[in-house]
Formats: sequence, structure tokens, C-alpha cells
Amino acid sequence: MTNKVALVTGSSRGIGRAAAIRLAKAGYDIVINYARSKSKAMETAQEIEKLGRKTLVVKANVGDVEKVKNMFGEIAEVFGRLDVFVNNAASGVLRPVMELEENHWNWTMNINSKALLFCAQEAAKLMEKNDGGKIVSVSSIGSIRYLENYTLVGVSKAALEALTRYLAVELAQKNIVVNAVSGGAIDTEALQHFPNREQLLEDARKNTPAGRMVQIEDMVNTIMFLISEEASMIRGQTIIVDGGRSLLV
Ligand SMILES: NC(=O)c1ccc[n+]([C@@H]2O[C@H](COP(=O)([O-])OP(=O)(O)OC[C@H]3O[C@@H](n4cnc5c(N)ncnc54)[C@H](OP(=O)(O)O)[C@@H]3O)[C@@H](O)[C@H]2O)c1
Repeated sequence: MTNKVALVTGSSRGIGRAAAIRLAKAGYDIVINYARSKSKAMETAQEIEKLGRKTLVVKANVGDVEKVKNMFGEIAEVFGRLDVFVNNAASGVLRPVMELEENHWNWTMNINSKALLFCAQEAAKLMEKNDGGKIVSVSSIGSIRYLENYTLVGVSKAALEALTRYLAVELAQKNIVVNAVSGGAIDTEALQHFPNREQLLEDARKNTPAGRMVQIEDMVNTIMFLISEEASMIRGQTIIVDGGRSLLV
């Protein structure tokens, strides 16, 4: 019996890093993926190795299908299996509608939407060798409601959520469970790119019915639930983790 293996895309920082560490604590060997932050990816790997788990660190832009295929080739070579895939990496151009250009669309859609399809195809090929697996994507509330400057990321996350439903149906025959977790504003480095960061944080602090902002660990808790056997009859869903914020205007 080889150890179970989890891939978390974008695990050099933020939610992906925390998910990778939690999965390692749960006993998985971890594939850490990043695009630019090599030293942070290596730090995540060191922390996981201290827990006694194996790591593989792969630099790959998930918006590039060739890079994705190479990454899964490495996973197959090093571990020979994959049990969990957390589709977490994201990027995007944050601008008003009238300032958006074609290359902004392509950049955002490739990393946030296209990556899920081609990573899921490769993940499924590895997962079916061991009788199945779990796929969880990370989405955001901007997929279903207006957020200033968020058009492209919101549209890309809506595509990700739709794709989650299609994958859930067609991969069920391979015993692969597919879902997504959608978060409200969380104070990670991602928010530093928002021109209206302070306003977003203030809104989340003041107007979240649960009485506090969503934390990284709230997202990770839900990811861990969705990969558990207890959640195996939840298919193609996007679970909103926002403390009730999106229920209000
Ligand atoms: N923060 C929020 O308020 C919030 C709310 C809801 C949902 N989310 C979602 O949560 C997920 C993680 O966000 P976060 O807040 O943790 O962001 P973050 O701190 O900015 O981290 C983003 C991660 O994605 C990686 N990444 C970016 N582009 C990539 C690419 N092309 N290929 C591979 N990896 C790439 C980054 O790696 P490098 O550093 O190497 O580039 C980094 O590890 C995203 O899907 C985001 O949309 C965030």
C-alpha cells in the first residue's frame, strides 16, 4: 500500500498553502504547485516534510495545458497515484468592464476556468487507477453577485462552478466526487491586488451576519469535509462559506 496523495494548485501561499498543510496532517503526501513564488513553495514543502510526509514541488502555470500535462506526468512518475485534487490557484485582471481587453479575458479564464477542465482530465486518469478520488475547487461569491472591478474573475468562477456540475456527473462513473467551495472576502495576499481592498475588508467585518470575517481555516474545514466519506453524496455543489454575507444586499 502506497500513501495517499493530494495535489493542491497554488499552494505556495494563502488558502492553498493552508489546505496543503491540513491534508498533510491528515496523512496525505502532497504535490505543491506554484507559478512564481518558489521560495514560498519551498517553505510550504519544508513545513509538510516536518510532519513526516513526502512532497513534490512543481512550478507550472495551470493556465497552460502543456505545463499541466507535464505536472501530472511528474506526479505519475514520483507518486504513481492521486487521491485528492484541490483546484485552488487563481489569478485575474481587476478592472471595470469598459477597461477590459481580450488578453485580460484570456489570462483570467485560462487560469481560473480552463485549468479545472484539463487538470481534472489528468487527475481522473490517475485517480481511476486507485478506484476513484475527490476534486474540490475554490470559488468566490463574485460568481453569483456583483463585486466592483471583479467582472472577469466573477465570470471565470461562474464557469468553474458550471464545470464542477458537468465533471461531477461524468466523473461519477470513475468514483470521483467533484464539488466546490465558494468564499466571501478573506484577508490573504490576493486582496492586495484589489483597488478597493479597504472597503471590501470593512464590509466583511461590519456586515457578516456570523459576526466576523471568513478565515482561511473556514475554507479549509469545508474542503476537508467535501473530501470526507461523510460528504460522498454531495455532488457538483458549490458550498458557500461567507458567514451569511451574501444573504444580505
Ligand atoms: N482571498 C479571498 O478573499 C478569496 C475569497 C474567495 C475565494 N478565493 C479563492 O481562493 C483561492 C486562493 O486564493 P488566495 O486568497 O489564497 O490567493 P493568494 O494568496 O493570492 O494565492 C494564490 C495562489 O495561486 C497561485 N497561482 C496564481 N496563479 C497561478 C498559476 N497561473 N498557476 C499556478 N498557480 C498560480 C499563487 O502562486 P504564486 O505565488 O507562485 O503565483 C498562490 O499560491 C483562489 O481560487 C481565490 O479565487 C479567495
